[in-house]
Amino acid sequence: EKGNFHHFMQKEIFEQPTVVAQTLRSYLRPLERKVALPQIDFDISAVDRITIVACGTSYYAAMVAKYWFESFARVPVDIDFASEFRYREPILTKGGLALFISQSGETADTLAALRHCKAEGQTIAVVVNVPTSTMAREADLLLPTHAGPEIGVASTKAFTCQLAVLAALAAHFAVKKGRMSAEEEAQIVDHLLEAPAALNAALDHDEDIKAMAPLVAPARDVLYLGRGPDFPLALEGALKLKEISYIHAEGYASGEMKHGPIALIDEHVPVIVLAPSGPLFEKTVSNMQEVAARGGRIVLISDAEGLAEAGEGCMATIEMPKVHPLIAPLVYAVPVQLLAYHVACVKGTDVDQPRNLAKSVTVE
Ligand code: M6R
Repeated sequence: EKGNFHHFMQKEIFEQPTVVAQTLRSYLRPLERKVALPQIDFDISAVDRITIVACGTSYYAAMVAKYWFESFARVPVDIDFASEFRYREPILTKGGLALFISQSGETADTLAALRHCKAEGQTIAVVVNVPTSTMAREADLLLPTHAGPEIGVASTKAFTCQLAVLAALAAHFAVKKGRMSAEEEAQIVDHLLEAPAALNAALDHDEDIKAMAPLVAPARDVLYLGRGPDFPLALEGALKLKEISYIHAEGYASGEMKHGPIALIDEHVPVIVLAPSGPLFEKTVSNMQEVAARGGRIVLISDAEGLAEAGEGCMATIEMPKVHPLIAPLVYAVPVQLLAYHVACVKGTDVDQPRNLAKSVTVE
């Protein structure tokens, strides 16, 4: 049950440090500082292309995973929405790996895509949260997330657990492909193990986010910007806000803004910028300045260093702990979830059962 929380979504957001730690326990050996995956009976070093298919929030986890597989293991990754994949005659090479990501393990389009890939002789791996689901049963390689039952229609804890599994899997591929040294693997393990504490530190800012939610709640349109592996988080933030507060929101890669969406900017459009300090920070700051010059009202989500550099003049700022870029997508999921949650509470919508949506989409 909900315990001290008002909604299942809120409870599930706050469970993330625990369930991410629980999920990581099955994929890491902390003392040896190694990634440990379930018995895999195919030759990973022979996999030269990965196809990842999913829907909704699970698709955004796939987008983040593409960065990781390509940068760690140098394996090319195709990603697609299941509803597009199944009708586009995808090219599947012999010996390829097809990876499906799903909280429920029952999403109709994802399941149809899985069966298509199976018929085409692909090895089928699934990252699922419901271990008794159809996808879990039909997989060659089952990679469970241990988020526990997710009741809120808006997916939260399943997403961060998916990211935890995918980061470990990408590192495992890199090791098997000879692209990652034992020392690099050890560092990845250390960084992943920092995630639960960093998620807690992010959750500590719940009250700040609640306090600024009334600034966003009256908006008709909201834009989310992010770069690199944090770009999918911009998409995820926009999806969460749409789903539960019914405010129109869009996520954009920061650098794409001047190719169109900047035309929308005026003093009525809040722009939520996800920008951990780091090599790409300056680029994002210049995108922010373009927004500010047009009267746009910025909410900057960054760490203390980023806020010190660029927080001035923003409508609001949300401080995140300073984290390694690997775990930033997990940590920055928290403020976008909480922002959507508190805005929905201000608007008084049905957070756990938003209109027109089902928890699991089992029809095409
Ligand atoms: O169970 P699945 O992960 O396959 O579900 C996919 C989407 O339907 C799901 O992520 C949906 O977008 C959520 N409502 C997002 O919050």
